[in-house]
Amino acid sequence: MKLFFNNASPFVRKVRVFARETGLDKNIEETTTAVSPVQDNASLGQANPLQKIPALLLDDGSALFDSPVICEYLDSLHAGRKLFPAAGPARWTALKLQATGDGILDAGVLCRYEMAFRPKEFQWSGWLDGQKKKWHGGLDYLEREAGALDGEPTIGGITVACALGWLDFRYGDDNWRNGRPKLAAWFEKFAARPSMKATMPSA
Ligand code: BEZ
Repeated sequence: MKLFFNNASPFVRKVRVFARETGLDKNIEETTTAVSPVQDNASLGQANPLQKIPALLLDDGSALFDSPVICEYLDSLHAGRKLFPAAGPARWTALKLQATGDGILDAGVLCRYEMAFRPKEFQWSGWLDGQKKKWHGGLDYLEREAGALDGEPTIGGITVACALGWLDFRYGDDNWRNGRPKLAAWFEKFAARPSMKATMPSA
């Protein structure tokens, strides 16, 4: 399997952490991929028509995208404890945590694109404020529901950890830990896992 990959992307990091947690990382070759919201990347487009990472090229020539789909596929390949709980409340909790982490990232990445790619004279502070409010809402929810993150890793915890790690990487000044002691304590422990340490974001 070949993973279209970029060291800064938190969505790719989800897949890389997931692969390490399930012992599948040895089966995945990584190919560094430049991504931009405004520039064409034809070779990535062959694996993902949306030209977004992560995309996973399978050995039969087909491809999967994006991170929720790839992670659930990887979960089907190993015989160990499943990181997507099969059914019942545990499944909905894990999927809701995944949606919260992904939603925080969606808002944060939109802000980053606004600041990094849109010409300065067109940047809109109301847009940035609105997106920031969304990711802060997600963080406040996680602080209230921090107990749901305890226990063995699931796709929910992995996604939340990758979101928090990316906020540290891109928005360190925003200080998400302020007023969120339970989430901060949980992240400190999770971030010490070998899968997280091996996948630290870099530009
Ligand atoms: C980043 O550079 O922060 C980034 C790269 C790819 C996807 C999302 C974020």
